[in-house]
Amino acid sequence: MNHQNHITPVNMAPSDQTDASAGTRNQQWLKQYHQSHAHVFGTPLRVLDHGRGVYVWDVDGHKYLDFLAGIAVNTLGYAHPTWLQAIEKQASQIAHISNYFASVPQISLAQKMLEIAQAPAGSLVYFANSGTEANEAALKLARLYGRTLTSADKPARILALNHGFHGRTLGALSATWKPAIRTPYQPLLPAFDFIPANDMAALQQAFEPTDQTGKNQQAPVAAIILEIIQGEAGVCPLNAAYLKAVRQLCDQHQALLIIDEVQTGMGRTGIWFAFQNENLCEGITPDVVTFAKGIASGFPMGGIIIFGQQYASLFTPGIHGSTFGGNPLAAAAALATIDVITRENLLGNARERGRQLQQGIMSCGNPLFKSVRGTGLLQAIELTHPCAHAVASWALDHGLIINAVAANAIRLAPPLIIQAEDLQAGINILAAVPQDLADD
Ligand SMILES: Cc1ncc(COP(=O)(O)O)c(C=O)c1O
Repeated sequence: MNHQNHITPVNMAPSDQTDASAGTRNQQWLKQYHQSHAHVFGTPLRVLDHGRGVYVWDVDGHKYLDFLAGIAVNTLGYAHPTWLQAIEKQASQIAHISNYFASVPQISLAQKMLEIAQAPAGSLVYFANSGTEANEAALKLARLYGRTLTSADKPARILALNHGFHGRTLGALSATWKPAIRTPYQPLLPAFDFIPANDMAALQQAFEPTDQTGKNQQAPVAAIILEIIQGEAGVCPLNAAYLKAVRQLCDQHQALLIIDEVQTGMGRTGIWFAFQNENLCEGITPDVVTFAKGIASGFPMGGIIIFGQQYASLFTPGIHGSTFGGNPLAAAAALATIDVITRENLLGNARERGRQLQQGIMSCGNPLFKSVRGTGLLQAIELTHPCAHAVASWALDHGLIINAVAANAIRLAPPLIIQAEDLQAGINILAAVPQDLADD
């Protein structure tokens, strides 16, 4: 059924304009944005004012159903009372302390992270403030580990996958594939090698002592960093056999397996971490897991879990650090997020709503939609032709926030609190997307 007739644009009514000659409030604020912000993000889509649950409102008062959640960040949606209370209480108690001191929320959170990751005895947590910083810490750990395998003047290699995304600071960028964001910053860090995802032969070759020609020696591999579902690449899962081979080769060659769960972690795929998915990762234990995005439901935080004492002991006093890492406010927001995920069974909800989303999209009758991929509430719709930006723009004009993650793919990552009715409302808008849209 096509719902096109029932879907009306939300943000085109001239009556909303405060002063027609000055434009809408969105336009006025965006003009000032441009005059005051470095232009790294292009033009923001709207200027948002507030949010409640799974809805946000812009400065002109238009309401949007949010199927992006700040890019898989707002686990609990907007202004969840438990999250709000936790931050308010912590702010009134103690907000920031530096790492010369510790706080109870920080300690409790580290314990909780070890518990939900089912990390073995001796495992430890390091807190940072974002995904890129989490990966930065993991890569620094890998460099330290590499020094135990080879000399510093011929560093052990770190493998990363084509289409992988790990962040934009120079270290994490060195493991990030996309040429458009890498090239302007070259030279990046040495001894990073990219291999195609899900390619067994290339994986095997990367661990060999000589390169493909058989003539040149290769340094040993210190680590491989990967996402189990490549989020920024368009929500593309690795396959189970490949992941098994990665773990085996890491064991065989004493290399670290770093799993980047920045986007997939903290319940997004219907389990705490994607590496706990038995279908995809049976028997696979990582050596390092990185997390950020959804952990504190909108409060900036990231970090790593180092599995086992052998690797955890590589970090010694002074070797790495951060002013804000483990900040009590962020830790309180994260503890509240984990508490609500557990109490409200948001893992189960993510699994169920994920199934509803897949079925709803595939049965909605929109011929633009070729397939849906992903797990839980991290999904992407593959389109029949490259018009994702036009689709996202049309949806926004009709009250739904979605993301053109690739030219022919739409990413859907609503808050984990979303209920069946709101999810269906979003599917109805998607069902009504016209077929004749084309990207500029
Ligand atoms: C898998 C993955 N790793 C790392 C990052 C970088 O996170 P941040 O933007 O918080 O630095 C992202 C961001 O999209 C991501 O998806």
